[in-house]
Amino acid sequence: MAQAVKPIETIGVLTSGGDAPGMNAAIRAVTRKALKNGMKVMGIDKGYQGLLAKEIRELTAKEVSDSIQRGGTILKTARSEEFRTEAGRKKAAGILGELGIDAIVVIGGDGSYRGALGLSHEGIGVVGLPGTIDLDIACTEYTIGFDTAVNTAMEAIDKIRDTSSSHERCSRVEVMGRAAGYIALWCGIASGAEEILLPERYDYNEQEIINHIIETRKLGKTHFLLVNAEGIGHSVSMARRIEAATGMETRATILGYMQRGGSPTCKDRVYASIMGAYAADLLHKGIINRVVGYQKGEFTDFDIDEALAMQKTIPDYYVEVATALAR
Ligand code: F6P
Repeated sequence: MAQAVKPIETIGVLTSGGDAPGMNAAIRAVTRKALKNGMKVMGIDKGYQGLLAKEIRELTAKEVSDSIQRGGTILKTARSEEFRTEAGRKKAAGILGELGIDAIVVIGGDGSYRGALGLSHEGIGVVGLPGTIDLDIACTEYTIGFDTAVNTAMEAIDKIRDTSSSHERCSRVEVMGRAAGYIALWCGIASGAEEILLPERYDYNEQEIINHIIETRKLGKTHFLLVNAEGIGHSVSMARRIEAATGMETRATILGYMQRGGSPTCKDRVYASIMGAYAADLLHKGIINRVVGYQKGEFTDFDIDEALAMQKTIPDYYVEVATALAR
């Protein structure tokens, strides 16, 4: 386990990549627990981009109040091209050194973790917190924002289902997730979708979907709900092809950014708070270059290098259950 060479007195915290509900709970917990541990906390605005632009200010306990219930991130977020370069990371490490920031907590997805790893190579201690609605970080069964996102998407799908059923239509609903199908799988099961398309599994056999729609109509079902992950793509054109092949009116809805906003659920607030406090405690103990995760009912931490090398797959049994319940 990597140990800081000198006691960590000042830490920075930033959010990076796509925002996720619960990030504010994590920022608040990092800040307040670090202050309790006797450390000074600097908030870095707009992710690595803001770090390079020195958009950095001290955070007090008061500064993070009235934030736990808010969606988005009070520190703002960005994706930075400059930080992807070695020169950018050296510059960032120089700025942190200049400001006396010994270590930073990075709240974001695995792209943000890769940035943090690069920064650790420049001598800055880092701790990563999994902040993404996509649930696609291998070392953890929970990511900050996923629970809120799936609940938001599920409610939207329930509404689409009402109108789809009234009009006896086929609805194709695209949910977020980048290349991962976790949001689609959860929303598909939760909303009783007849078909769920996951990038990890889908073989682009459209005829099979068309046959499934025709079969369910023969069985007396008058509407059909298909949930697909954005990683599959082509939602609108596929809806047109389904309509042409089945004769069933078909509409595509892309849920988009509404899934990333909104007030975090209780689970996201609580888990993000525990993870934030955990990060502050690791740094207080001088433990650096870790990422915090949740596995088998426990909060835990991993070496950042090892965490990035881990692989994650959609659980087979979830897919088996989803398929069995949809027919
Ligand atoms: O990683 C979260 C996420 O919302 C993905 O589901 C989506 O593919 C991506 O971010 C969109 O990113 P951007 O906001 O940069 O377009």
